[in-house]
Amino acid sequence: MSSNQVCTVVVAGMGKRGTHHASAFQKNGRFRLVGLCDIDAGRLDVAAKKFGVSETNADAAALVKATQPDVFCFCTLPDLRLPLIRAGVEAGVKLIAYEKPTALSTNEALEIMQLVRGAGIKTVVSHQHRYGEHYKKVKEIIASGAIGRVHTVYGHATGWMMHMMTHLIDYARWYNDYAEAEWVAGQAHGKGKFADNHPSPDYIGGFIQFANGVRGVIECGEGAPDVLEVDYWWRKCRIGAQGTEGFAEVLTGGGWRAVTPHGLQSGPGCMDYEHDMGPYVQDIVDWLDDDHRPHPCNGESGYKDFEIMMAICRSVVQRGKVKLPLGPGEPELEALKRVLPD
Ligand SMILES: NC(=O)c1ccc[n+]([C@@H]2O[C@H](COP(=O)([O-])OP(=O)(O)OC[C@H]3O[C@@H](n4cnc5c(N)ncnc54)[C@H](O)[C@@H]3O)[C@@H](O)[C@H]2O)c1
Repeated sequence: MSSNQVCTVVVAGMGKRGTHHASAFQKNGRFRLVGLCDIDAGRLDVAAKKFGVSETNADAAALVKATQPDVFCFCTLPDLRLPLIRAGVEAGVKLIAYEKPTALSTNEALEIMQLVRGAGIKTVVSHQHRYGEHYKKVKEIIASGAIGRVHTVYGHATGWMMHMMTHLIDYARWYNDYAEAEWVAGQAHGKGKFADNHPSPDYIGGFIQFANGVRGVIECGEGAPDVLEVDYWWRKCRIGAQGTEGFAEVLTGGGWRAVTPHGLQSGPGCMDYEHDMGPYVQDIVDWLDDDHRPHPCNGESGYKDFEIMMAICRSVVQRGKVKLPLGPGEPELEALKRVLPD
């Protein structure tokens, strides 16, 4: 697209995240909201009034077909991915922006990737915490070489898998310069959260071997380490890297800290949707304008995060090392439910 052309956008799922997205698109001068969708008529009405959008529909596929937007954004719960991807592909949009997790199984994610790759449609998956100043500071310290040669990246959260795990993996991969993952080994416990709208084992942890020799350690859910410095439960996440000369890490709700040969440094920062959504949406425009400026949260990278998470699930089921890339297989959540003890 040329850099002064207006990009039209439809947003489906006007809950918490859909509202954040619609608001960020509207604040960005390049976007025009041309349609809103939700199956909840009350919510849709409130959103239509708030954003001043007249074109609304409870049927996302019908809405994108009628409005033919450049961008289709959907922020529904994890049980709704493939049908909405298909709706965007069939309407011929240029880019689909959607919420994590990419899918609920490898089979679904592979189908999504096949569809969008086949149609040449760009995708973006919302791992937007990375825009936090404290997240960026940690990346800057690691990239400067101040902690020496990185040998370990890590991330943990008290929130459970389908909510948090791809966030953790995405930022740990970023801190490791996106080296490819070769294999994983995982363990999990607890079935209580399979009934949740983000179905997950209560706890899951995994080791990742990256092709550059770096080890990844990821844990989330009940029993993952607490982050005592952070009060807000969902922000009890710690992601960082250890190197031969120190470490640098971010606390989602509690700033950053690093130890390098120059001593201890630390600074503020807290995950903030208002702060993070602006640059996330600007990077969508930049990618639409220029194919050579892929979004940091592009769907190919998001798929790698998801694939690692699913490989860790398969490792729990198979009781051993799982090599990547993954092919189709038994849906991971069902397999986990089958093997985890009550
Ligand atoms: N990136 C982040 O930081 C972050 C934070 C919170 C949630 N999320 C993710 O965002 C997604 C949505 O979470 P939320 O908290 O906004 O949920 P929500 O329940 O607040 O909103 C979901 C909305 O989707 C609507 N919906 C359901 N079926 C629909 C359909 N067929 N067509 C159109 N709309 C439909 C619901 O009525 C609801 O309004 C989840 O995948 C969640 O994991 C991401």
